[in-house]
Amino acid sequence: MAPGKNEPVRVETIVVPDPGPGEAVVQVQACGVCHTDLHYKQGGISDDYPFLLGHEAAGVVEAVGEGVTDVAPGDFVILNWRAVCGQCRACKRGRPWYCFDTHNARQKMTLGKGGAELEPALGIGAFAEKTLVAAGQCTKVDPAVSPAVAGLLGCGVMAGIGAAINTGQVTRGDSVAVIGCGGVGDAAVAGARLAGAAKIIAVDIDDRKLTTAESMGATHTVNSRDTDPVEAVRELTGGNGADVVIEAVGRPETYKQAFYARDLAGTVVLVGVPTPEMQLELPLLDVFGRGGALKSSWYGDCLPSRDFPMLVDLHLQGRLDLGAFVTETIALDEVEKAFERMHAGDVLRSVVVL
Ligand code: APR
Ligand code: ZN
Ligand code: ZN
Repeated sequence: MAPGKNEPVRVETIVVPDPGPGEAVVQVQACGVCHTDLHYKQGGISDDYPFLLGHEAAGVVEAVGEGVTDVAPGDFVILNWRAVCGQCRACKRGRPWYCFDTHNARQKMTLGKGGAELEPALGIGAFAEKTLVAAGQCTKVDPAVSPAVAGLLGCGVMAGIGAAINTGQVTRGDSVAVIGCGGVGDAAVAGARLAGAAKIIAVDIDDRKLTTAESMGATHTVNSRDTDPVEAVRELTGGNGADVVIEAVGRPETYKQAFYARDLAGTVVLVGVPTPEMQLELPLLDVFGRGGALKSSWYGDCLPSRDFPMLVDLHLQGRLDLGAFVTETIALDEVEKAFERMHAGDVLRSVVVL
């Protein structure tokens, strides 16, 4: 629980109501620590304290409310923070990843009985033994997968893999460059490998990150602190640039590198999240003359019901190593420490196991 702006998070007793219509209570088994949790704590997202943090989670459905048919008590599920409506124009046009009429549970969990209402981070709030969500936020997957691994698909890992396979549409034989190889960028590397990319160039300013990216499937690495990444990517791709460049930092200068590191007809995917004050300046003639596609990827443009079970199956078959994203498992009262390690760049993911 994050009590207030920049205050340390702490463990408290909460009350989880019985699920109402369309809702489900989930016994959380694991929940990854994500940058967005830290941003909530720091006040970068909203000032609606107190927050119940945690949103990269998997667990077992304990109870469901009226009208819930897709999941039942006992089901092992991954939680998602975008339960699409199925009714809006985007949903009806078959592009539900652009649905902005997403919904969470209507009831609120509280701090103690009759205490302050908790605002669940990203509508989930899973640094808790139990949480209340909308049933549409639960996707059933094969229970053979470890909860720590499954939970990560609920956010950062899905965002990265989806940036490569859904948004970037990486196909067999492509050359792919990934700029920024934290958890999201590494997942993009893994996604590119999964899609059959022939060349995967990892770019980062930190050699430790490049070593990890290699273990995820990068075939080449570029430290952009001492090498011009645009030149390096071009050199590695016969002078052309990469077919798909994925930007996983969220800064104007790295976006510019992505823009110029791609092949003329290539695709740039922005999955790193910029801040509101950031501006991008590009010669319009270059946007015109270079063709190709400039895309952004929101939550990996994923469809949880399609993508979560598929990625779990690929992991269980040994074709996608999601275990590599779990740097450490921790207890519920160690989240504050995990924030520090994340800030220092020491971990891909710390995962709270309950
Ligand atoms: N050039 C290249 N790499 C950079 C640069 C830069 N100028 N600046 C930072 N990086 C690298 C860092 O060294 C780190 O490896 O980018 C990586 C960022 O990784 P994390 O901080 O672990 O963040 P991650 O969880 O991967 O998220 C990346 O995607 O979804 C978004 O909100 C998320 O904007 C964030 C981005
Ligand atoms: Zn919709
Ligand atoms: Zn997240």
